[in-house]
Amino acid sequence: MNNFLAWIEQRLPVMEAMNKHVVQYPAPKNFNFWYFFGSLAMLVLVNQILTGIWLTMNYEPSGDGAFASIEYIMRDVDYGWLLRYMHSTGASAFFVVVYLHMFRGLMYGSYQKPRELLWIFGMLIFLVLMAEAFMGYLLPWGNMSYWGAQVIISLFGAIPVVGEDLATWIKGDYVISGATLNRFFALHVIALPLVLVVLVFLHILALHEVGSNNPDGTNIKKPKGSMKPEELSKFKFHKQYADKYDIVDAIPFHPYYTVKDIMGVAGFLIFFCWVMFFFPEGGGYFLEAPNFTPANGLKTPEHIAPVWYFGPFYTILRVVPDKLMGTLLMFAAIGVLFALPWCDRGTVKSIRYRSKWHLLNLTQFAICFVILGILGTLPASDTANLVGSIATIGYFGFFLAIWLYSKNENTKPVPERVTK
Ligand code: HEM
Repeated sequence: MNNFLAWIEQRLPVMEAMNKHVVQYPAPKNFNFWYFFGSLAMLVLVNQILTGIWLTMNYEPSGDGAFASIEYIMRDVDYGWLLRYMHSTGASAFFVVVYLHMFRGLMYGSYQKPRELLWIFGMLIFLVLMAEAFMGYLLPWGNMSYWGAQVIISLFGAIPVVGEDLATWIKGDYVISGATLNRFFALHVIALPLVLVVLVFLHILALHEVGSNNPDGTNIKKPKGSMKPEELSKFKFHKQYADKYDIVDAIPFHPYYTVKDIMGVAGFLIFFCWVMFFFPEGGGYFLEAPNFTPANGLKTPEHIAPVWYFGPFYTILRVVPDKLMGTLLMFAAIGVLFALPWCDRGTVKSIRYRSKWHLLNLTQFAICFVILGILGTLPASDTANLVGSIATIGYFGFFLAIWLYSKNENTKPVPERVTK
């Protein structure tokens, strides 16, 4: 290390931290496809922040100028169309990546002890991400921006006694107006991104404190010393690393997973660029048709639908006829995910070694979630309502069922060491 770096290191041990958290971080050697999505979520977060900064340079946060400034970005600003599509496609990509990242957690029991706090930080990220996306959607000041915000803010009006005042307070006006746009802009470009970045930092710190889970759900920190010599001779491990850290189930994060993650990034970028260049509106799912006309408080779009990633929660809201009860159930659908580490009373983590009931339960949960998502983007009808009600029962049933069977579950023996 040259003198300058050594001088810094003595005062702020950056290299030591990099070494601990990236280079030498013990990563289980059996990470699979599902472990791509954490690093991809970070990539998308950086993309959103950078493209967001450049969009802000030409965006005008006012009721009179917002819609026109988006058109200006799309037509006149050099590469403005690219920045905007990177940001709008990026929002959908963020949710694809985060939903898959969460599903991995469900499959491998990554929320169980000792990773409860890590899961809670993840859920807080998810909550803030939804608020961030919701506020961002108002900014183009298209007609769906306006009416989407109208529907969601009016939900607060259903709260007894304080509801109407609360809704007015959120809007900063009696109707959604330039004042609402201004505050959403402030929250979207600075307040919530700051919170997100801090939460992601805490998420990683919490992960590194307890260590990563893995597809077998085993404890990788068992020392090499506890292995019998005949076992050790048949076992593939990183000898240098094992000698230094007394660990045989893990490998150093760098270069093994830095290289693997680059592969994930390459695969992701191919898909992302394909959508961005050939399919930027996502068939109306990423950018909705009514949003190509300016906000108009006198003209309700024929069918108000949220962007696809809010679909599951919107359907849960809609299947309940009472507005207040629907709102409560929608928030409960998110709240119950926070409680998952305590709903699941099992000790075996990975789906590989859990009962058939668990496999069935998780599968029905995933199917119900997808159905709820699809229904959220379709117009309301009696059939949609019936299917939505059944899927809502399936959604909440997952948590009840897991609580019931996990205490005395018929699990398979979990291997002492990771299997591959
Ligand atoms: C901005 C969003 C997020 C970012 C940047 C992020 C980043 C990461 C990274 C880099 C890892 C380690 C690599 C990996 O295991 O894939 C990780 C692990 C994890 N994340 Fe996230 N995450 C985000 C959102 C979430 C959410 C919403 C949840 C769930 C509520 C969550 C739950 C977890 C869990 C349980 C682990 C540990 C997984 C294991 O060790 O098996 N994360 N996250």
